[in-house]
Order: sequence, then structure tokens, then C-alpha cells
Amino acid sequence: MIVSIASDHAGYALRQKIVSHLKEKGFEVLEGGATSSSESYSYVKAGQKVARDVNDGTALRGIVICGTGIGISIVANKYKGIRCALCTNEFMARMSREHNDANVLALGERVIGYGVALSTVDAFFEEEFLGEWHVIRVNDIKEQEDELFK
Ligand code: RB5
Repeated sequence: MIVSIASDHAGYALRQKIVSHLKEKGFEVLEGGATSSSESYSYVKAGQKVARDVNDGTALRGIVICGTGIGISIVANKYKGIRCALCTNEFMARMSREHNDANVLALGERVIGYGVALSTVDAFFEEEFLGEWHVIRVNDIKEQEDELFK
């Protein structure tokens, strides 16, 4: 699976951990965003990169990271076809897949520790969309998108 991941400076250190973790697990990783944690980088630009990669099919899933995960998740969710879930634990990541068919995970480096972040990432990739009645809700979101992105 190809995963696009990007962060601003405030998510840079966590991004390094996640990239190594995903590569060890055999994922193909496309990386973008800040090149260090000391130089300011726009979370808007980082979020746009991942959202575009997932939106155009370059990557199947994405991970976006900033200090809180808030700004970058707002950016990603402005793109058609993006269902970005800001998660602070494994349970939220599992639910985001099972119920919402989330395709982008947002994390806040200043919010969670590395251990919780990695287990959240693992849950996001392990869990599948449940389908069933959740399809109705996700289709409603898609219908809303069709209305907004005419
Ligand atoms: C950067 O200082 C910070 O504002 C950013 O990483 C993020 O938390 C915004 O939502």
C-alpha cells in the first residue's frame, strides 16, 4: 500500500518515527512537508500535499501531522474524497475506519506520545470499513461533496 505522509515543523519528529515504522512494516511511503523541526513550515501546504495524493489516487491512504492535528485535518477535509480523522488513540482510529471509512489520519505531535501515536497508526491500517449501514452515512457525505464540488 502506498501511504502519503506530511507534516509541518511541529509534527516533524513524530513523522520520522512513523515513516520508519511504516517502512519496517513494508509500506511504500511518500513523504512531504517540513525538513526539520526548527524551521517553520505551513501545515496548510503539508495537508494539501497529502490530500492531493489521496484525492488523485497517487496514494491509497494518508497521514497528516501538525502540533495539534487540528489545522492540518481542517485543510485535508476541504478536499473532495478525503475523510480525514483526527485521532488521539487506537480506539478512535479503529472507529474512523470501521464507521467512517477514513482515508487520512491526522495526529498531533504535541498531544500524544510516540507509543500511543504508533499504536494509533497501526489500528488505522489494520481495521477495515464495516460497510453495512455505515455505507449509507458515507454515501451521504459523498452526496454532500457532489453538491459542494460542482
Ligand atoms: C504550529 O505552531 C501549530 O500552529 C500547528 O502545528 C498546528 O498545531 C495547527 O493547528
